[in-house]
Amino acid sequence: MNDAAAKKPGEELAGAEAGAPAAAARMKARMTRRRVLGGAAGLIGASALATGIYAGGIEPMGLVVTRYPLNPPGWPARRKLSMTVIADLHAGGPDMTLPHIRHVIDTANALKSDVVVLLGDYTTSYRVANKRVPYGAWAAELARLAAPLGTWAILGNHDWWNDLMEVRQTLAGVRIPVMENQAVMLGAEGERFWLAGLGDQIAHRLGHGRFRGVDDLPGTLAQIKTDDPVVLLAHEPDIFPDVPARVTLTLCGHTHGGQIRLPLVWPAFVPSKYGARFAYGHVVEEGRHLIVSGGLGTSIIPARLGVPPEIVRVELGSSSDQQTKRAPAALAPSESAA
Ligand SMILES: [Fe+2]
Repeated sequence: MNDAAAKKPGEELAGAEAGAPAAAARMKARMTRRRVLGGAAGLIGASALATGIYAGGIEPMGLVVTRYPLNPPGWPARRKLSMTVIADLHAGGPDMTLPHIRHVIDTANALKSDVVVLLGDYTTSYRVANKRVPYGAWAAELARLAAPLGTWAILGNHDWWNDLMEVRQTLAGVRIPVMENQAVMLGAEGERFWLAGLGDQIAHRLGHGRFRGVDDLPGTLAQIKTDDPVVLLAHEPDIFPDVPARVTLTLCGHTHGGQIRLPLVWPAFVPSKYGARFAYGHVVEEGRHLIVSGGLGTSIIPARLGVPPEIVRVELGSSSDQQTKRAPAALAPSESAA
């Protein structure tokens, strides 16, 4: 006997009547789920849009000063030296406009550091939405940088890849010396130190992700003839594993801190063969100190997220118990003070 046959008359109708509210409830639940999912998708879309607007139009226009008080090995404990570091200006594009550059230079000058160093990548090369800042205009702003021990520059990969001769001539035109595998001694007697500038490590693009550099670390360090401490400027931080302990501090840029710091995936955006290892901040390995600036401008895309444009201020000879004054929460330097 089948089930239908087993049912008494009226049972089918009663079942159908009983099933109607259930079906209605199911339908209501489905519609509610759809509404919730639709709302969630809307929220995600709105958040993505807001994040995009922030990353493209707000964060790149910001500016912070990140201070590193430190006393690395090889630096005389009570000898004070302050350095202002300007990395990856990338003048132009939608974000690094002339007024923004003026603000950067004014802020840098207000720090009244002993010496200013420029770590390369002065221009941008966006093909679309590019607001050109004439070379003479950004150079004139850099020429306003004032420090008792001067302003010293190195070149970055974009300087080599875009307009090398023009960048060289422009910096020479405003009397900013460019160091390529050169070292100079600075400071008054009893406070001397060496400032060494390395040639770019990826100056020539060979294709298929391969590069040839013009860097000569041994040749640069061979110019150091006294026991005075050495500060090395290198555009890309990938040189750091080769830097000997003789160098008190290495200062780099290039990475922009990853520039777009999306959770989990951000190391993929760091232009370094070491990924996140030298992406940003104060790194100490085997007693050797490296500071990587997040830089100021942008490249590839005109957006920043979680890595606002920054001027770095290094305060050598400062008390070791001081803390780095600013670091985005998600980007704390590897070690805030020596
Ligand atoms: Fe670079």
